[in-house]
Amino acid sequence: MNYIIAIDGPSGSGKSTIAEKISDILGIEYLNTGSMYRAVTKYFLDRNINEKNVELIEKSLNDIEIKIVDGEVFLNGKNVSNEIRGDLVTKNVSWVSANQKVREKLVSLQRDIAKDTSFVLDGRDIGTVVFPDAKYKFFLTASPRVRAIRRLEQNESSLSVDELEESIIARDKYDSSRKTSPLKRAEDAILIDNSDMTIDETLEAIISKVDTSYAI
Ligand code: DC
Repeated sequence: MNYIIAIDGPSGSGKSTIAEKISDILGIEYLNTGSMYRAVTKYFLDRNINEKNVELIEKSLNDIEIKIVDGEVFLNGKNVSNEIRGDLVTKNVSWVSANQKVREKLVSLQRDIAKDTSFVLDGRDIGTVVFPDAKYKFFLTASPRVRAIRRLEQNESSLSVDELEESIIARDKYDSSRKTSPLKRAEDAILIDNSDMTIDETLEAIISKVDTSYAI
């Protein structure tokens, strides 16, 4: 029987690391939905389209093709997996992901990708909007400081830990207060604050709630 595991939470809460491991352990597919918003952001940045170009944003959406193959992200046929992790994309992804039309396109793509087989998806609105009926829902979080340190350790940024913490707090505020699909815990999602937990402990907290008889 197919089932969905939804893992939501702010950046640096360990969602993608955990989701990838869950996918390995349970033998199910994994989709990192943040990478899709990042790829769309790259498309706009490459064309100097900014948040004020509302019409152009909506018109361009038909020209954007995103594919995920073995975890690699392809934007109109080009592998952009590394480029979408940089500071410029990170700085701009919030306004892109606040756009209703962008969200409609990506939510529909996510539902389509995960429609026929078991999936673990991580993002901000998986348990609330994309798959509100997901069998399992988790909301991961950690303090902004801990999340900034994690980002630094992943070598994903050239910013200092203080700058990173500040940008994380700003992005959380933006993501949680936006009108369209704000970052919030689904009422039936299990909350895990992993500020003082290792990856394995977080993984265990999740796996212990999942019926592993589904695992291959
Ligand atoms: O998980 P991430 O940091 O790579 O996500 C990048 C951005 O995309 C983040 O600022 C919020 C947005 N996002 C979203 O709005 N909805 C999702 N399902 C996933 C990500």
